[in-house]
Amino acid sequence: MSIDGNVVPAGEARVSVFDRGFLYGDSVYEVVRTYDLNPFQMAPHLARLASSADRIALRLPWTADRFEQEVRRVVEASGGCAAPDPDAAPWNLGERSVRIVVTRGSGELGLDPELAVEPTVVLIAVPLRGPSFAAYRQGVAAWFFGGPGAPRRGGDPAAKTGEHLFHVLATKEARAHGAEEALLLDGEGHVTEGASSNVFAVRGGVLETPPLGAGILAGVTRAVVLDIAVRLGVPVRERPVSLAALQSSDEVFLTSTVREVLPVVRAGERPIGAATPGEVTRLIHAAFREAASGGHIPGKVARRG
Ligand code: PDD
Repeated sequence: MSIDGNVVPAGEARVSVFDRGFLYGDSVYEVVRTYDLNPFQMAPHLARLASSADRIALRLPWTADRFEQEVRRVVEASGGCAAPDPDAAPWNLGERSVRIVVTRGSGELGLDPELAVEPTVVLIAVPLRGPSFAAYRQGVAAWFFGGPGAPRRGGDPAAKTGEHLFHVLATKEARAHGAEEALLLDGEGHVTEGASSNVFAVRGGVLETPPLGAGILAGVTRAVVLDIAVRLGVPVRERPVSLAALQSSDEVFLTSTVREVLPVVRAGERPIGAATPGEVTRLIHAAFREAASGGHIPGKVARRG
């Protein structure tokens, strides 16, 4: 862990009760992961951190270079904390996820952002907890949340901020129905994204995913997957996906930093396709695995050593 650049053991990592991240969710964040203990796709993650900060008028106290250095430092300092997980997918064994949190900082109580004195930077490096190996082989269930008449999510979906209650409640509902992820519905009943993932469907060999304008986060994994699909010659259509269209798709999968490409075999009460992971999903995940282990990725940051 580190607080404002000071590496500390997890049990000693503390921020003030006056911190606005704690009080108001007045913060931005990113989650990056490692492969062979090297942070993956740092450049797009840090670009998105800067864009999220811009969107809420929060001044980042560090340059992208400094963030990258400090992320590497907490990964190095996190050695020895990983107990091997017997259910883990092999590519996740021994890896870390690092949460980068920048809050507007502490100050006198009150909503006015001018009360904040100095941003707080917290880096949390923990053993990566991805989906189990079985989840990749068998697929997972997803549950819908929100939709017409339901309370709307707050905030700007394109900014990764600490305002998370909608996503927390969505996840609670999904778990209550035995599902791995909640799929968020907008006021028109379109599926936008997962509570912490982007969503893709395959219909008649075409890969479909909601466009960035649909009120979603521009996922780093989503961008890599779209690039892979083009390279594999899979036709891509970015367009709104209704709940009914999603449920009648041949294949559905989720993407996120910690999940990579995860097949969905049930959505709500309905099986997807043959209720087993589909061929296009498998091909795309295989290409992603290759890219993550050193193959071609557009804009990929040079690996160390
Ligand atoms: N979340 N949509 C939302 C709402 C997310 O929170 C995330 C990721 C994604 C996928 O983005 P990416 O591919 O860049 O990880 C989409 C992170 C991982 C999290 O909150 O844990």
